[in-house]
This record gives sequence, C-alpha cells and structure tokens, in this order.
Amino acid sequence: RVLILDFGSQVTQLIARRVRESGVYCEIHPFSMAPEKVREFDPKAIILSGSPAFISQENSPRPPQEVFEQKVPVLGICYGQHVMCAQLGGEVTGSEHREYGRAYVDVKEPCALFEGMWELGAREQVWMSHGDRVTRLPEGFRAVGQSDGAPFAVIADDDRHFYGVQFHPEVVHTPHGAQLLRNFTHHVAGCRGEWTMAAFREEEIARIRAKVGKGKVICGLSGGVDSSVAAVLLHEAIGDQLTCIFVDTGLMRSGEADQVVTLFRDHYNIPLIHRDASDLFLGKLAGVSDPERKRKIIGATFIDVFDEEAHKIGGAEFLAQGTLYPDVIESVSLSGGGMTIKSHHNVGGLPERMKLKLVEPLRELFKDEVRKLGRELGLPESFIGRHPFPGPGLAIRIPGDITPEKLAILRKADTIYLEEIRNAGLYDAIWQAFAVLLPVRTVGVMGDERTYDYACALRAVTSVDGMTADYYPFDHEFLGRVATRIINEVRGINRVTYDITSKPPGTIEWE
Ligand code: XMP
Repeated sequence: RVLILDFGSQVTQLIARRVRESGVYCEIHPFSMAPEKVREFDPKAIILSGSPAFISQENSPRPPQEVFEQKVPVLGICYGQHVMCAQLGGEVTGSEHREYGRAYVDVKEPCALFEGMWELGAREQVWMSHGDRVTRLPEGFRAVGQSDGAPFAVIADDDRHFYGVQFHPEVVHTPHGAQLLRNFTHHVAGCRGEWTMAAFREEEIARIRAKVGKGKVICGLSGGVDSSVAAVLLHEAIGDQLTCIFVDTGLMRSGEADQVVTLFRDHYNIPLIHRDASDLFLGKLAGVSDPERKRKIIGATFIDVFDEEAHKIGGAEFLAQGTLYPDVIESVSLSGGGMTIKSHHNVGGLPERMKLKLVEPLRELFKDEVRKLGRELGLPESFIGRHPFPGPGLAIRIPGDITPEKLAILRKADTIYLEEIRNAGLYDAIWQAFAVLLPVRTVGVMGDERTYDYACALRAVTSVDGMTADYYPFDHEFLGRVATRIINEVRGINRVTYDITSKPPGTIEWE
C-alpha cells in the first residue's frame, strides 16, 4: 500500500483516487504523521502532495525525515517536490516566473516515470500551479524534464528511487498524469495493482465478521447509495444478525419509501423495520420556515425515532454507518477555518447517544468506489446511479413553511420533471435535478379562468463532487415540454421557471 502525505492541497484526494484506480490501495495522512506511524504503516511507496504553503514561509509544513529513510520510493508533487529538495539539501526559491494552469514540459532525459507515455525530446502538456521552484538539486538528483518556468520540472534520483514533479499529475488537465502515477506505483515501487472491489468485498466481509462476532448490528437505511451498499455488504457478512431501520420522514419523493422496503425486505430478505413517522416530522416542522431550524428539527427527530426503534429490537451492540473516506481523512487546513453555509450533518450525535460501537464498512472508500462495490454486490443500477438526495429531503425544497398540501404538489411536479429527464436520456449526464416549490403565488389564466397558484422552479446541475456546480444547459424545447406538463397535470402550480445559477455563488439546493 501507498502512503500519501497531505500538505493541504485542494487536490490531494485526486492523488488517492488515481492511485486506487490503478488497483493500488493507498491512504492519505497529514504531513505531520509521527515517524513511528510512518514505520508502522509500512508503505511500499510514499507520495508527497502539493500545498498552498511556500517553503520560504516561516513554519512551512515539513514531513518527518523518516520519509526519506524508509528506503522506499518517494514521489514529490509540486510543494512535495520542493519540500523533498529542501530536506535533502537542495535549494528552493520564490520565483518571479509563476506558472498557473496549462504548461508544457520538455522531456530531456529518459526516466522510469515516463515509460510508455513520453518520448525523449517530446513536449508534453501538464497542469501547473506554483510560485516557488527548485533552483538547486540535492546530491544524486538529475533533471529529466523542464518547463519554461521550472528548469527542474521533473527530477529523479534513480538510486534512491526519489522523484519529483513540479506539475500536478493527479488532475485531468495533465493528460498522461494517471499513467505517470501508475508508472511510479507499479514500475518504480513494484505494486501489483491487485486492489479491486472484488478483493475489497472479500476482505471487508472478513473484517466485519471478526469485529462483530455474534453481536447484533443495526443499520439506518435512507434510500441513498451509501447506506444501501453498507447494508447489503453487512448482510452478506453476518446475515440476520443485521436489522435495518428505515425511518420514513414523510419528506421523501414519490414512491421512494416503497422502493426501499421492496428492495431490502422482499428482494434481499434483510430484516427491516419500516417506521412511518411522517406525522411526527410534519407536526414538528409545522410553521417553521428557517432552513437551519428545519435541518436541526429533522436531525433531532430522526435520532429520537431511530433510538426508539433500536431499543425495541433490544440487545444491539453495533451501529452500522455508511461513512465514506472523505469524512474520515484528517484534513490539513493551512488557509484558516471556513464558516458554516449549511449544516449537512443530518444525524450527528447518533452514535454517542446510543452508546453503540460503530461498524463503518465503507470508511476506506470514495463515492465512486462505493458505486463499484454496489455493482459488485448486484444492487440494481437504478439504485447505484441515483442522484444524491439530501437527508432533510423535500423540506429544504419548499422555502417557507411545509404543509402536506405543498409536499403533495411538489412530489407531482418533481416526478414529472425526472420522468422527462429520464425519457430524454439525460439522467446520467446530470449530477442532481429536482423541483422546488416556491412560496409565492402568481396570477395565470387557464381556459377562461383566472388562476392564482404556486410557482415552481426547476433545478439541474452538473458537478463532480457537489462543491462547485453549473446549471445544466437544457434546450428550450425540453424545458417548455416539462413546464407544459407540470402546469397541465399538477393542480396548484401555474408557473414554472428554470434556475440558471451556478455554485458558487448559489448553492445547489435552495435552502
Ligand atoms: P448545496 O445546497 O450545499 O448542496 O450546494 C451540496 C450537496 O449537498 C446536498 N445537501 C445536503 N445533504 N443534508 C444532506 O445530507 C443536508 O442538509 C444537505 N443540504 C444540501 C445537496 O443535495 C447537494 O447534493
């Protein structure tokens, strides 16, 4: 396995994704990892990430010297290259000649990193983002590639298997970047690339069995991909020692609750408690308009109901959660703390309150790996390819107060919209699409009659991770068709708009 030391770059996770895509297991740890932890990890190779910091800054982040004494290959990326040079006796200086964005590297000398991709003498596109640069190499290194702004754009010490690149091979804007990382892990470090989802499934099942023994496990199902995959994997590992609890908040989309029950209880035969708590949730939400208060109420009520159901089962020792790797990585923040835009942690506090031990079978996986695992476990594609759906559900798609009437109207509009998206073959091209019921009434005319009904907004965005997003450029004919259908078929809506705000400055949801 490969150790990635994080110096706070925004794209460190992409390094891990690329390494794993080549079939090599890796983990991200903070640059300040204790030397004995590095030894314990026993990496086959180490990769040093980029960073927003500069070497010349006071207290610039440094890895333990141990990294260079493990006798394993090391690859430094951008800041990682600088820090490697600085710590091995080279020189790094702030440069007038900054490079941001697309740049070109001239391949000067042969190098193991270039195998099968870059020929001697070629000029290759890469993606750079740096101010500092290496100005003197440490002993043992040679420059094998150079760019206009960086004479030492790629450096190599073949004896010690230390390599450094000034550019970012992990981003898609470096066309051969994934191959370069693969050359490092496979050819230089000798990793075999045997980490697949099939292998993970077997290993994880063994780990779950060892951890749980004969204990009872409860698992909350939400209808989303993560909890579904976790539940099916657990069931495969421990059978009916697992009980799933599905709390129906009354805030899901049309037909969703039934789908969850049918799939898990009937298809997979997983013991499932279906608690319809819609009245309770809607009662507590009555008259509440503030988005954060909605979230808090929904989160707290969920915990109450879940806890109650769990007690009814009795004797549970473990709580299973679909925690993913990005939630587990200890983040390195060098640029100061952020502020809360929205509190997404729907059920924070659940494990503490329930005094249960945690089982988190997905905690080593990225989202796309969870999907692969889901396919491996035979979950239907319609479940795996689903758009994300927020924990507070339709409550945050009805700005203002929530009533059963508004929920019913929104469900109908949302169903028509998604149906049209599917029919047009656009579902998979879109990250998330949904309707929002606006708290305004507008005047319209249908037949000879005046109407005074709600307006609805349609939203569809493309995104990679939900952090940034752009609106989906539907053609007008498509939008017109959806609007006509909604206005004709949904009583209560007489106007439809399309939201063309990107994120930032907007957010994906309206609340
Ligand atoms: P925003 O609206 O913040 O959404 O741009 C980014 C992604 O997060 C989802 N989202 C939530 N998910 N609880 C959740 O589980 C929440 O409170 C919540 N708010 C937003 C949103 O659907 C999008 O995928």
